[in-house]
Amino acid sequence: MNYGYFDDENKEYVINRPDTPLPWINYLGTKDFFGIISNTAGGYSFYQDAKLRRLTRYRYNNIPMDSNGRYIYIKDGSSVWNPTWKPINVELDNYECRHGLGYSKITGEKDDLEVSILYFIPPEARNEIWHVEIKNKSNTDKNIRLWSFVEWCLWDAQDDMTNFQRNYSIGEVEVEGSAVFHKSEYRERRNHYAYFSTDAEISGFDTARDEFVGVHNGLSNPIAIKKGECKNSIAHGWLPIGVHQIDVDLKPGDIKSINFLLGYAENPKDAKFNSDGSIVKSEFYNTKEKFSNSDKVLEAFQNHKKYWDNLLSNFSVQTEDPIVNRMANIWNQYQCMVTFNMSRSASLYESGIGRGMGYRDSNQDVLGFVHMIPEWARQRILDIASTQLSDGTCYHQYQPLTKKGNSDIGGGFNDDHLWLLLSVSAYLKESGDKSILFEKIGFADIPNSDAALFDHLKISIQYTLDNLGPNGLPLIGHADWNDCLNLNCFSTEPGESFQLAGHIENDRIAESVMIAGLFCKACDEMAGILNFIDQPNESIIYAEYANQMRQTIINKGWDGDWFLRAYDSFGNKVGSKDCEEGKIFIESQGWSVLGNVGIENGMAQKALDSVSQILATKNGIMLQQPAYKSYHLHLGEVSSYPPGYKENAGIFTHNNTWIQIAETLIGRGDKAMEYYKAICPPSKEDQIDIYRSEPYVYSQMTAGNDAATTGEAKNSWLTGTAAWSFVALSNYILGIQPDYNGLIINPCIPKEWNNFKVIRKFRNSTYQIEIINQSKKSKGITTILVDNLEIEGNKIPLFEDNKTHKVLVTM
Ligand code: GLC
Ligand code: GLC
Repeated sequence: MNYGYFDDENKEYVINRPDTPLPWINYLGTKDFFGIISNTAGGYSFYQDAKLRRLTRYRYNNIPMDSNGRYIYIKDGSSVWNPTWKPINVELDNYECRHGLGYSKITGEKDDLEVSILYFIPPEARNEIWHVEIKNKSNTDKNIRLWSFVEWCLWDAQDDMTNFQRNYSIGEVEVEGSAVFHKSEYRERRNHYAYFSTDAEISGFDTARDEFVGVHNGLSNPIAIKKGECKNSIAHGWLPIGVHQIDVDLKPGDIKSINFLLGYAENPKDAKFNSDGSIVKSEFYNTKEKFSNSDKVLEAFQNHKKYWDNLLSNFSVQTEDPIVNRMANIWNQYQCMVTFNMSRSASLYESGIGRGMGYRDSNQDVLGFVHMIPEWARQRILDIASTQLSDGTCYHQYQPLTKKGNSDIGGGFNDDHLWLLLSVSAYLKESGDKSILFEKIGFADIPNSDAALFDHLKISIQYTLDNLGPNGLPLIGHADWNDCLNLNCFSTEPGESFQLAGHIENDRIAESVMIAGLFCKACDEMAGILNFIDQPNESIIYAEYANQMRQTIINKGWDGDWFLRAYDSFGNKVGSKDCEEGKIFIESQGWSVLGNVGIENGMAQKALDSVSQILATKNGIMLQQPAYKSYHLHLGEVSSYPPGYKENAGIFTHNNTWIQIAETLIGRGDKAMEYYKAICPPSKEDQIDIYRSEPYVYSQMTAGNDAATTGEAKNSWLTGTAAWSFVALSNYILGIQPDYNGLIINPCIPKEWNNFKVIRKFRNSTYQIEIINQSKKSKGITTILVDNLEIEGNKIPLFEDNKTHKVLVTM
């Protein structure tokens, strides 16, 4: 079955039937105000934090899966339908959903009436816009009635779905003209409100769900629509909603448009009430003025598109492979912005209340985003690092609204702190801005501490050095990158968190080879940073730490044909040929090679050959083999999943990217590209009924060979795969690597490629790079001409001159 196609010209994915194998979603918003939206308009909006400032309701785990959204109902004669198909699900004569960059446009047609809704959030606005266009394609007059619908969430999404005894009594609204204001809890400690307004004249409204939908009805048959009329209800407690009723008369050929604004506004604490006790609405009035008619709205939309064109222009490629071009130029970069903004908080699979910003996740997300808006990356790095404690440990997560570490999850993930070295060095290389290192952000556990970011980097390395196990490898703690490898957990209680169980303080045995590889990389980055700030003697110390750890991995982390994964808390090997299950894991192969272990002595190649023979499938590389068939107390959550799913031998796409990079480090460009394509979403279009998830963005995992549903993807959008795929492709396969004092060119491509071009904006210059592969090889540069002059080596100097430079590279 075919559900849509890529429109690369317009940077859109076009879905042409609404009953996709799963809801296929998109994101609205670039900063502070966000929404998720499915191809049938399901989803919700929030300000900064999907848990603490949620504007509208969404029902996870409902029937159907994607329940509640931004709906428009149409009554045309006796027929009632939604242009978004849901929630009534009346069959449409035509349907199309265009998911674009930060916007979605959904069009439905029935009985020669076409209604399209363009949903978007202008960059940096605190409101979303629904631009509705109604076209009478028939040759008779049409007098239609239309209703808009949103259901308010009482701000704290967790409380909203649990604390009904209170919440059914606190809902409050105001109605002024054609605007509905949601103001629950505004009477007491909240200084913010939400609004839903329209520029059309309304013939009615509702704000009480029981009046509009009915207590015993659902969104597919609201009682008011059945009766044909709103009740102009004012909600007092229960379930506040926002509904406008609008009458539209259209002659044949007429097109009319209506705009809706759904937004968030704040007031100063001491100036929030008018004298009659109503909300001070100045922020709303300003926004309304700004988008008061379709011309202004459409202009804002054009600006929104330009904003994105501009962002994407920092990096663009032209290769012989259209799928590579599409991912690199459009969808991968777009997904990098989304993961940067959302971390793992809000998607169809992340409820927005479970996890905030992840320490390790967000550091990695920076890697794929830093070239787009380095200043935002700078702030994010400082926010993340401020949640670190003075001993080097970290809060595993923090809430974006409060920027405070989330103590429910605590710390003890012994890889967390090391990722900071990677994000900081990426930022420094991209921007050259040393000042970030000396920002005084303090430590989360010391009031008024004036520790600088630089101190955080040192303490991060020190923590690992101070926490090595019996073999000299880093202790694993609750888990490393693989949240499910819980070697100190021993959990027997159903429902207990695998990550929090166990007494890691008393356990100094279980070690991680993956962290060891990551540590080597982190130390190498630290050495680079120290050279950059003119501390060469200090730099040598860190380079030496890396060398020592490399030696330890070679001595204690090698299993003969691949790298071990870990030692468990009895000192036994995990990920070894001696194990019955879980003989070989992907992460330690990737990270040993990324940590520059075994590249010279052949271990790297041997390990990657083993990955290819044992773990690689046509859908990507499985996390480990053989899958665990039963629950192993001493291994934890990894063995809790049925074989083939998630960390138990699923294809966890995030770590596939490390193997792509590792392959380039040993010069195998064909293999790197083969792995790149195996998990690349557009290459799933021809098996989409098996794959099921969106073909335009990465999913966290695909079911592996042991699963009953091999090839089925889950958990789309919020995955480290986005950032790392971008890094793998741009920095390692295409080989364009920002460095402290220049741009390195070091491609590792499929041998059959004849040439490719890259435009890279870097430190205020534009590099127009053309690479010719006349000798048909994967790696190795013969000459580089910069503005027609040959340079020594493969690093193009910095110009920082706002000019364009032509770079001609011959391989
Ligand atoms: C999830 C988590 C990430 C973890 C990965 C592997 O994607 O967000 O932090 O590294 O799973 O367990
Ligand atoms: C579960 C998931 C893992 C995720 C973790 C986050 O362990 O399997 O992917 O990282 O939860 O808490």
